[in-house]
Amino acid sequence: MNYARIIGTGSYLPEKIITNFDLEKMVDTTDEWIRSRTGIEQRHVAAEGQFTVDLAEQAARRALEAAGKTSADIDLIIVATTTADRVFPSTACLLQQRLDIHGCAAFDVQAVCTGFIYALGVADKFFRTGSSKCALIVGAETLSRILDWNDRNTCVLFGDGAGAVVLEQSNEAGILSSHLHADGAYEKLLYTPYGVSRGLSELLDGAGGIAMKGNEVFKVAVNTLGRIVDETLACNNMDKSDIDWLVPHQANIRIINATAKKLKMSLEHVVVTVNKHGNTSSASVPLALDTAVRDGRIKRGEVLMLEAFGGGFTWGSVLLRY
Ligand code: ACO
Repeated sequence: MNYARIIGTGSYLPEKIITNFDLEKMVDTTDEWIRSRTGIEQRHVAAEGQFTVDLAEQAARRALEAAGKTSADIDLIIVATTTADRVFPSTACLLQQRLDIHGCAAFDVQAVCTGFIYALGVADKFFRTGSSKCALIVGAETLSRILDWNDRNTCVLFGDGAGAVVLEQSNEAGILSSHLHADGAYEKLLYTPYGVSRGLSELLDGAGGIAMKGNEVFKVAVNTLGRIVDETLACNNMDKSDIDWLVPHQANIRIINATAKKLKMSLEHVVVTVNKHGNTSSASVPLALDTAVRDGRIKRGEVLMLEAFGGGFTWGSVLLRY
């Protein structure tokens, strides 16, 4: 059996930090409101001229170094992003150029906050069929660029960053299973109103923003993530107690707590970075993973449940032995 095994992780956060107190000066909000409703204290924001591919490159280089691999070893690049720098080339191709890699498949996956889970799920299929032996999987976002910084409902929630993993073919797991879902019927609860064929010029004029019915998104997210936990465990004939670490999408500490409760997991076994990073969409899971790998919490051989929920709606999980 060809498994995809994580052999290195990396991440990158832009230098500039915006705290809740900074936001108090920008919109009608308070640190207390943001912290009590979301758990967020601060978020990182890309500098002028710093793009999604710049963040992706830093995270990718750190993951390659941790894996003991060079660009020459990589035979597949997948970048999960909602904030591609250009319509084309894809961020994955821009990253491929930066890393001086030539010829291998490179493409973006767009599943909003579930993007990295989708990218891992797709990569897993490449490994199971023997089509890839060493892959670079990245989640990278500059969400600050599509936010309306005058809209207190959304600007307090998001941040920029990137995370990456290097996967290598292994006879031992590895990714045990991946579960990917979407339901486009939920479009109206969370969306951007613009795109190539719909008001791109307005976006370029600065009238961007994210439209969101926050409390409805919250309810669907909690219920859906509860269901995906059951689906993932059942698929692997595992029990809740078999999971060593929950590495969840970092949108809101209350959503994370609800999933941990469903898994009957103490928060000591849940990786939480939402307080420092905010919601970095597809970068949030690999950023959290790299944080807990580098500080020594996550150890080789442990079983990790990665899960996410986001616009689309999309949702998914990956169960793996680290
Ligand atoms: N500061 C102060 N007040 C605010 C702010 C703010 N930044 N934003 C909204 N409010 C006000 C609202 O206007 C509302 O006022 P009203 O009662 O006078 O109308 C009040 O706070 C309560 O608003 P709710 O939306 O009911 O507050 P809720 O407790 O649901 O928290 C939140 C809002 C944090 C958005 C929550 O619903 C949430 O996190 N939802 C999930 C959304 C999400 O994470 N989206 C990201 C993408 S999807 C994903 O990643 C899971």
